Amino acid sequence: MAAAEPQAILTPTTSAAMFLTLTIHDGAEDDVRDVLSAINGLRRSVGFRIPEAGLTCVVGVGAAVWDRLFGRPRPAGLHPFRELNGSRHHAPATPGDLFFHLRADRLDLCFELAQLLTDRLDPYARVVDEVHGFRSFDERDLLGFVDGTENPDWPAAPAQVLIGDEDPEFAGGSYVVPQKYLHDLAGWNGLTVEEQERAFGRTKLNDVEFPDAEKAANAHLTLNTIVDENGDQHQIMRFNMPFGRVGAQEFGTYFIGYVRTPEVIEQMLENMFIGKPPGIYDRILDFSTAVTGNLFFVPTNDFLDDPPAPAAAAIPSAEEDTPASGDGSLGIGSLKGSGDESPTS
Ligand code: HEM
Repeated sequence: MAAAEPQAILTPTTSAAMFLTLTIHDGAEDDVRDVLSAINGLRRSVGFRIPEAGLTCVVGVGAAVWDRLFGRPRPAGLHPFRELNGSRHHAPATPGDLFFHLRADRLDLCFELAQLLTDRLDPYARVVDEVHGFRSFDERDLLGFVDGTENPDWPAAPAQVLIGDEDPEFAGGSYVVPQKYLHDLAGWNGLTVEEQERAFGRTKLNDVEFPDAEKAANAHLTLNTIVDENGDQHQIMRFNMPFGRVGAQEFGTYFIGYVRTPEVIEQMLENMFIGKPPGIYDRILDFSTAVTGNLFFVPTNDFLDDPPAPAAAAIPSAEEDTPASGDGSLGIGSLKGSGDESPTS
């Protein structure tokens, strides 16, 4: 059998993006499945008119609706986003059953497709969060730093982002964690450039990484470098975008990370919010407040085009919808297991 085709995750960065998070009404599951199967067609209808703008749409599905929409099996790593409470900073878990990541080099294409999708879903789902992102100069965030440089490159990227033999029913899928952050720009701009660079562990103007020995323990780069006991680095693919409203003094970064197993992003978040060691939390959080947090599974295009309905007798009870690992642990231990389980294997 031919390998299932992944959704368009690993595509070049674009100058515009829209991020839509929706909740699904009870009883609308059959209709939502129908809309999901139409998404790739709608994307072609809009994108084909201006092919050079590179319109893509990635769809994610949350843990709370998976069984209702599709029954079993379910992706091994799918569970609700786990909120984190550090000594100073909080990463909330917020509602979200469906997620659309729309990207193009023109916002009008994203907007047109978003309009078609939300029109179709209107009777069955509600948009609970909507962000329009834009490229800022040379891929900078609103803190002024180039964002995305250390994403995994080809040919390594698919092995970091796409599920393989460890979950054969869902091979070619992925997980996505979106989080909306609001910045205290006045506070951040009150720092010297040297203090800002120390917070990230990179230079601001020309985006050069500090040598490891010169990186602070609470620098963003220190806390987001995940190396397992075999010396393998576990990476994620980020497509962060700035957004905001100047009149409201709202300045934000929409963080979005794709990964083969959620444990990698969960370890990064634990390092950032709780600290490594606990208390040594990420300095950029003193100027960045997380206001949303979600985890979604990203099925393959083959799954999306023809989504399975739950078998009537197999619809699970509500208790079975609880997180896969109820012990509160991040389960990162399994990353340190045999090479076969490792995303880099
Ligand atoms: C306010 C939100 C955030 C901002 C403004 C931000 C910005 C940045 C910047 C400027 C860099 C350095 C250049 C680069 O490699 O991209 C970076 C690196 C990175 N960030 Fe973030 N980030 C944010 C949130 C997060 C979160 C929530 C995670 C993970 C859960 C994360 C994971 C990473 C990783 C893995 C790297 C690369 C580390 C390396 O290998 O050097 N970031 N981020």
